[in-house]
Order: sequence, then C-alpha cells, then structure tokens
Amino acid sequence: MNKIIERIYKDRDLTLDELKAVFAFSEEEREKLFAKARQVGTENFGKNIYLRGLIEISSFCKNDCFYCGIRKSNSKAERYRLEEDVILECCKTGRKLGFMTFVLQGGEDEYYTDDVIERIIMNIKKECPDCAVTLSLGERSKESYQRLFEAGADRYLLRHETADNNHYRRLHPPFMSLENRKQCLYNLKEIGYQTGCGIMVGSPFQTVECIYEDIKFMKNLQPHMIGIGPFITHKDTPFKDFKSGSVDDTLVLLSVLRLIFPKVLLPATTALGTMDPMGREKGILAGANVLMPNLSPVRVRKKYSLYDNKICMGEEAAECSACLRGRIERIGYKVTDCRGDYGVVYE
Ligand code: 5AD
Ligand code: FES
Repeated sequence: MNKIIERIYKDRDLTLDELKAVFAFSEEEREKLFAKARQVGTENFGKNIYLRGLIEISSFCKNDCFYCGIRKSNSKAERYRLEEDVILECCKTGRKLGFMTFVLQGGEDEYYTDDVIERIIMNIKKECPDCAVTLSLGERSKESYQRLFEAGADRYLLRHETADNNHYRRLHPPFMSLENRKQCLYNLKEIGYQTGCGIMVGSPFQTVECIYEDIKFMKNLQPHMIGIGPFITHKDTPFKDFKSGSVDDTLVLLSVLRLIFPKVLLPATTALGTMDPMGREKGILAGANVLMPNLSPVRVRKKYSLYDNKICMGEEAAECSACLRGRIERIGYKVTDCRGDYGVVYE
C-alpha cells in the first residue's frame, strides 16, 4: 500500500507535507485512500448508515458570515421561522419514516430563547422518547447549552469553520471570534453533549495549511462528529465571485478524517450531493457513515438557502427518505434503525 496511507492509518496522524502529498494524489492513489478509509469505516460500523432528519427551524440570523446565504446583510434572503407545533409534526413524520435522530438547525435567531428551545426539546422527547435530539443553533452561552442539555438535548453541531485565525478573519465580520467559537465547542463537550465540529472544503482563502490547523484542532477537541462539505458559492453574498470547493478534495479529506478518527460520525453532506449527483454515495465510499435528509416542510425549503442550487428542494420527507435508502442500498450499504450514538456498537 502507499506509504503515506499506511502511516496515517497506523499512527492516526500525518505531517503537513504528507497532507499536501495526499491532496496531490493521482486518481489511482486516491482510490487506494478511499478503499482504506472504507475498510476502517466497515470495521467500526459494518455497512450501517445512520440517518439524521434535518429540520431547518429558522432562516433569521444575527450573524454575517461572508459565505452564507442567510447572513443578516442579505436583504434578498426570505426569512421564516417554524412554529413549535410544526417542528413537532416534522419529528412525528420523521419517526414514522424510521428516523431516530432529529437535528434542529437554524440561524442565530434570538426568537429561540432557552425557554422556547427547552419546550421544543421536551415535547419532542415526549412524542419520540427513543429518539436523539441534536441542536445546531450556533454560538450560545455555556449556561444556555447547560439548560438545553438538561432539557434533554443529546448532541450539538457547531462547525468551527476554520481553526486558522487569519483565515477565520477573512470569512467573518470583526464582531465574530474564533476564540469564542472554539470555547463553545469545549463547553459543549464538557457539559456532556456528543459534539460535532467541522469546516467547508475550498472556502475562499483556505490553504492546505489551514486544513492542517483544522486537523490539529480536531485532534485536541476529539469531537464525536465532524461535518465537512464543499464550500458552494451563493450569489447574494460577498463571496459571489469565488469558485466552489472541489468534490475530490472533500472526498480526500473525508478519508483522511476516517483514518485519523476511526469511530467519528462522519456525514456525506447535502453540499457534497449538490456539487455532484453521486456526491453522497462517493462520500460513503470514502468513509462517511451518516446522511442527513431534509425533514423541513417543503414550503420553507427554498428559504433556507445557505448556498446556490441546493438539492431536494421539492421532495417531501418521505420522498427523500425513500430516495436515500435506495441510493444507500445500491452501493451495498444499509440504513440502520439504531440511534447511532458515538461509541455504541449495536451489531
Ligand atoms: N457553502 C457550503 N456550506 C455552507 N455553510 C454555510 N454557507 C455555506 C456555503 N456557501 C455551512 C457552514 C455552516 C453550515 C450550517 O453550513 O459550514 O456551519
Ligand atoms: Fe432528497 Fe434524494 S435525498 S430526493
């Protein structure tokens, strides 16, 4: 086997030069990398893929990240927020479709106070006591994270976006801080959440050095989940003239992460599926083991527009679920009905 692949696999580590070499791999070497990551994936999870039902609860956001379509300065963005009973209905629909995790994701919308989120979590847990609730609601105080955890939230996704401070500054307005974002992640872990960080691949000004910093940060944080997908240009943002990230680079990074973090929960993201019609399948074949189909009501889908040309805009929850199950089966994997908590092996 290729020496670098062997070394990442054995030492669960790599140098900056090795990371550069990996991104410069030939097609043939890349296939070997994917095969090794796939092997490590199946050793840890079998052929099981976990489904997480994504409910996009609000497109209001007080942040202004330069890459994101729902940033507050985008006056063309259509804003909505889901009523509590609508969110609950989405979960009930999802439960019937076999989903065991619901991810409540939204912009940083001050309407969703701790009281409101707490009530939503408790109602979901009442309706679907065997399901996990994942929150993805951005940066909040440690006290807030603590309250929501006590209300029953199990997991939290907060991509750090980049661990390199100079890069962070070029992606975000001055009032946002990398230090605070990292602190949020450490707080979440300390409280007891299964915690997910992550980045976009190919975001403007990103270098291999930045990604190397990301890997170092992740080795320190030891997240339970890592969300990565290509950056995709959004036409109404300051980054409208930058090109989108590459599918191949995303797949390579997925594989590297699978080798370094054998047990981490690693989604093949919707952004990957947007850049390539077979992107999510390719992601799984590069070591990913999670898919996050959209459970949001179809009438709001277009309004949660983080990037251009997002897929699954017209499909009802049942259609996406059936479509994804078929896609997974066609590549020799299967959807599992386990919750898929970190470190729990069921079969
Ligand atoms: N392209 C790809 N991903 C994006 N996100 C935000 N904007 C974009 C974009 N233009 C990602 C961010 C955020 C997650 C919810 O969506 O990484 O954390
Ligand atoms: Fe939504 Fe295929 S996953 S239609």
